[in-house]
Amino acid sequence: MILEALNYLATWPLTTADHRSSIRYSVNLWSRASRCAKDWAAHEDNSKRAMLSAIADLKQTRTAVVLGSGLLRDVPIVELAKTFDTVVLVDLVHLASVRAWLRIKGLHNVRSIERDLSGFDALIAGREAQPLDFLRQVPYLDFVASANLLSQIGRGAKRRLEASGQPAMEPVAQLARTHIDGLQNLPCRTCLITDIAYGLIDRTGQQHESFDLLYGAEPPMHSAQWDWPVVPLGEESPDYRIVHTVIAAIHG
Ligand SMILES: C[S@@+](CC[C@H](N)C(=O)[O-])C[C@H]1O[C@@H](n2cnc3c(N)ncnc32)[C@H](O)[C@@H]1O
Repeated sequence: MILEALNYLATWPLTTADHRSSIRYSVNLWSRASRCAKDWAAHEDNSKRAMLSAIADLKQTRTAVVLGSGLLRDVPIVELAKTFDTVVLVDLVHLASVRAWLRIKGLHNVRSIERDLSGFDALIAGREAQPLDFLRQVPYLDFVASANLLSQIGRGAKRRLEASGQPAMEPVAQLARTHIDGLQNLPCRTCLITDIAYGLIDRTGQQHESFDLLYGAEPPMHSAQWDWPVVPLGEESPDYRIVHTVIAAIHG
């Protein structure tokens, strides 16, 4: 609890006013990730392996961008920093603990950018959402990874729409399609890692609830799929666990 409070307080002045409301989510994720480290390890390894396999045969390795870099738990950041001249991390929040870890590791070619990658504001204003278009201005871009971000974009958009009494399903699907298409239209190799389905499962293995985390958007063709025990037994309930289905899709 004390470490969480310190991380929160240390991150506050490093985060712009627009994104400070997301610090709590990142600190909660940080705590949950350490509590669930054993259960999440295979998912994190699978995510890292997918990104490493996506860059294995790249001819040029100048700039890599990681979208939804978060805690860097499912991102092979040391390998990316060794492989590329520059690595750019993009997220709503970069926790003070993550920034300190990067400094301690001496990863001096890693930059952090705070940015909303959802396109939600444009969509709501009736404009075309182009949240990944800024990547076209990044010089010498050779690789972009989307690291377990897409379902979180949907979650945030759904919460904001429901809070204002608007239907969420179609706008959230549209934002998911925008992210998938935006990645596929970039002029470089991309690797999308995202959870696509939620399942609530009891101790006997019976599934009680399930839903589509992309809200009807079609997942892209993918080369790998696995389960992520995102809420193991005992984390929220002694009787139920939550498992997400995750895919890795490489393009370009
Ligand atoms: C499940 S976490 C990803 C974990 C991260 N890849 C890691 O290795 O720890 C989702 C991440 O997406 C970020 N995120 C959620 N909505 C976002 C948005 N609209 N724009 C940018 N980042 C967002 C969160 O802050 C969080 O860091």
